[in-house]
Amino acid sequence: MDTQHPDLHPLYAEHLATLKQRADAALERGGFDHLVVASGQLHYQFLDDRDYPFCVNPQFKHWLPVTKAPGSWLVYTPGRRPQLVYLQPHDYWHVVPDAPAGYWVEHFDIVVIRTADEARAHLPADRARCAIIGEANAAVGDIVPNNPDAVLAHLHYHRAFKTPYELAMMRVASRIAVRGHRVAEAAFRAGESEFGIHVAYVRATRQTDTELPYTNIIGLNEHAAVLHYMHLDHAPPAHLRSFLIDAGASFHGYAADVTRTYAKDRSSAFQDLIDAVDAAQQDFCARVRTGQDYRELHLHAHLVLAGILREHGVIRLSAEAAVETGVSSVFFPHGLGHGIGLQVHEVAGFAAGENGGTIARPEGHPYLRLTRTLEPGMVVTIEPGLYFIDMLLATLKDKPVARDIDWARVDALRPYGGIRIEDDVACTTGAPENLTRDAFAAACAAVG
Ligand code: GLY
Ligand code: MN
Repeated sequence: MDTQHPDLHPLYAEHLATLKQRADAALERGGFDHLVVASGQLHYQFLDDRDYPFCVNPQFKHWLPVTKAPGSWLVYTPGRRPQLVYLQPHDYWHVVPDAPAGYWVEHFDIVVIRTADEARAHLPADRARCAIIGEANAAVGDIVPNNPDAVLAHLHYHRAFKTPYELAMMRVASRIAVRGHRVAEAAFRAGESEFGIHVAYVRATRQTDTELPYTNIIGLNEHAAVLHYMHLDHAPPAHLRSFLIDAGASFHGYAADVTRTYAKDRSSAFQDLIDAVDAAQQDFCARVRTGQDYRELHLHAHLVLAGILREHGVIRLSAEAAVETGVSSVFFPHGLGHGIGLQVHEVAGFAAGENGGTIARPEGHPYLRLTRTLEPGMVVTIEPGLYFIDMLLATLKDKPVARDIDWARVDALRPYGGIRIEDDVACTTGAPENLTRDAFAAACAAVG
């Protein structure tokens, strides 16, 4: 537990009360008496006895900070204490999940089982009255996940609104990620390879690949142009120019998602471009306010980033024309961001309401992951970028608009790959809370 952390007992009690209210409403809407949530099961490689890293059902870890207990179940019946059916197998091959302990335990009736099948005896007898949430292979006997749409729609929609407990978890995750980012920048400046930077990150966060919320993206030079570059070169490039790192951290099941970009030469044209994107990114973060339509913010980001391309001599078009002709999407080909929480890309980014329905993406923006209007408690990423991606640049070459691109400028910047700057920002009733920048500021203050 992080020593800077507040007392979790009251925060967790309030969180649990909120989840119960949401579950009450979801069950009523779906016409069920019990919510039964599987933690999940191990998955095995094809024709092999090797299992993939366990990934807990996010609906399960929403209720309690238990992320490494396959074969367990949560049962909630309105008006009753929630029950945890906890699988602690007799197993001398693997580490058996710890005995339940911590600030959450007092709120549950806990039954320990020794085999997955024993769960059947402890789950509500009238299976037809159960909303059973889980992946297909979590089934044991006649307990088969049915994942009712009405129940899931309600739970998913409301998951966007973080409780104070969840915000506390995410602040800690951000602080851990920032510890890794600071060490990674130092490793880059010291001339480490991508692999060396990754190892430095893992050491600083003390989280292995399977504990991190997503695979680290650590790209030097041109590799920064690959949006999800997950390869790790073992040798540093002969000429080091730039570094893009998109790497997070987890805490009690909650994620941080942070991206920074650095230039080796701090007085270069590429550094100037980073500074411009950084200033724009901070302005977008400041707009994470109640009532802000995230689609509008994404479209606004296109205009601003196109303006930066023009100011820095990459395009000769007006910002408006660059957006209209699709030129801005060549340099900024992903969404401005997404919801974050129990998942790095939190569910229900398009949810129109608690009964379901979808808010469509703006036409021509197929990769935007969030179309909802921001409200207090939502946590979203703000991650604008500008990239020099050969495949996308090639699509411009034959178009009339090609004459409005300064190709010499593009070629000069191509070896730097690209820029992305990403923070996790909480919407409040007032000014936004930037979890990422706060964590960087706290880390700087701590070293003086
Ligand atoms: N951090 C990777 C992404 O948001 O896609
Ligand atoms: Mn992200």
